[in-house]
Amino acid sequence: MHWTEHLTRALAGTAFCLSLLSPAAAAAAQDSTGNQLNQPSSKSGDEWWRHAVIYEIYPRSFQDSNGDGIGDIQGIASRLDYLKDLGIDAIWITPMYPSPGVDYGYDISDYTAIDPDYGTMADFDNLVSEANKRGIRILMDYVINHTSDQHPWFKESRSSRDNPKRDWYVWHDGKDETSTSQGEPPNNWQSWFGHSAWQWDPTTRQYYYHYFYVQQPDLNWRNPEVHKAMDGVLDFWMQRGVAGFRIDAVSRLFEDPGMHDDPYLPGINVYGDRNIKHLYTDDLPQVHDVLKEVRSVVDKYPGNPVLVTEADEPNVEALAKMYGNNDEVQLPMDFQIADVNGLDAARFRKLFDEVENNSAHGQPEYFFSNHDQPRQWDRYGDGKHNDQIARLMAVLELTTRGTPQMYYGEELGMRTTDPARIEDVHDPIGKLGWPKEKGRDGERTPMQWDATAGAGFTSGTKPWLPIPPNASAYNVETESKNPDSIFNCYKTLLHLRKTEKALRDGSQQSVLNDPDIFAYLRKSGDETVLVMLNMSAHERTWGFKPDELGLHAQSKLVPLYSSTGSISAWDAASSIKLPPFAAVVARVQ
Ligand code: NOJ
Repeated sequence: MHWTEHLTRALAGTAFCLSLLSPAAAAAAQDSTGNQLNQPSSKSGDEWWRHAVIYEIYPRSFQDSNGDGIGDIQGIASRLDYLKDLGIDAIWITPMYPSPGVDYGYDISDYTAIDPDYGTMADFDNLVSEANKRGIRILMDYVINHTSDQHPWFKESRSSRDNPKRDWYVWHDGKDETSTSQGEPPNNWQSWFGHSAWQWDPTTRQYYYHYFYVQQPDLNWRNPEVHKAMDGVLDFWMQRGVAGFRIDAVSRLFEDPGMHDDPYLPGINVYGDRNIKHLYTDDLPQVHDVLKEVRSVVDKYPGNPVLVTEADEPNVEALAKMYGNNDEVQLPMDFQIADVNGLDAARFRKLFDEVENNSAHGQPEYFFSNHDQPRQWDRYGDGKHNDQIARLMAVLELTTRGTPQMYYGEELGMRTTDPARIEDVHDPIGKLGWPKEKGRDGERTPMQWDATAGAGFTSGTKPWLPIPPNASAYNVETESKNPDSIFNCYKTLLHLRKTEKALRDGSQQSVLNDPDIFAYLRKSGDETVLVMLNMSAHERTWGFKPDELGLHAQSKLVPLYSSTGSISAWDAASSIKLPPFAAVVARVQ
């Protein structure tokens, strides 16, 4: 039997499972004021996020509905059927709150409104309700560390030293200040985006602290009023029916009150600053108190809301702390695995084994691309076999035990398209660091829906970022007609993840200690799936000996998916041939 026939049978046999995931009606929950809440229905105790696939949408670039070259909420709503058909369970939308746009939405000037670039609150409510009809949940971005310098809170804070909101931000005197000079910044802390993290404010003659851009002053999380105000933000969006939050830059919330200088590291960074270890501004223990508080606010709402943290934790122990005692976040993003940045079977095996053998057995969120780093097609590609490697990475992301988080266009093999000239750069770090750092525009280009001039993203003539040249071949319409496309690889895997119990919620165990092949078993009850990834450019042959893998000696492999086209069924005696960069998923029977 050809492997696709097995797949068809497998899919047919699981129609019941699929129907469980189909349209969820809005539940008739009410908030404290008696307003109808627009929550997705969810059995109590159903930890939906364990089985979900999350899809990150960068709203500016996903779908423009009015021809102004900027994606918007109505555009997202018009693509919900696409997302449902692909097999997406939840979307995380990066900020679409009012913002001056220095950091493209991550500098927020009003947490409880919609930026007119993206539409209206009515558009948002409609999006939630249309998404819920399709069983798709919506996660918002909770930008907790800083506001825009145009937020009314900061405007008040900077207006005078005795303003009631002065202490909502982090203010400090300069070093060696005199009546005529501002002195030096209080210490050597550096902004993630280059140069000192302190900005002199001439009106009140103090420095304020900003971990990111100058226009993004840090909130002072040691002030109880900040807690109250920011908890209110969570309530606001939960009451509008969102299913949780991705919490931005969470490890940066607190700074050392002793104001110690950070230690220098060798070398100079792309902005010309001495490299530094952010020892006194990252991962302070109080972060966990705030996470507990956030969890307690969202847990008041029905539907098992989820929290995802953006925290580039240095190791699995630090990642494990994010779960707290099941009272912090459910899904810490695993940056260690995201950033292997090469096809290194041994390294992947080590990192996945660490997750499995550690208290982090919780459930990480796995991702390889987002709006902050070059796309995986480029980062993992070898320059010759990038499409092949893109399929292998899809298998890795979608068959491991964790919640996968995709980035829009990843399912097409979208690549990074950096600006060619400094004049074209939008992201300020691209201007500051040019040409070593070209900014993040390259991974934020418009979604490639079809082969038309506007890629189906916009009907206007001026998309906010140019349509990449390869959009003519790599787009939803073209790829959906090609069974071997990257798009159809994703579609197949997304369906398998739902229909194969072992892939949906099975354990994960590495097998085979091979320098080129990363292989693992997923097991749930008596169902087992074997995944084999040849991470090398050589063909590899693997003699399948079931007993060596702890499987029944008579076990047979029934192929479910092969990234290199047709494969025949194997039996226990056969050798498995894995072409260069092949990825194979097989059911053990
Ligand atoms: C992380 C976000 O993902 C990034 O885009 C942003 O620039 C920083 N946080 C600051 O908010």
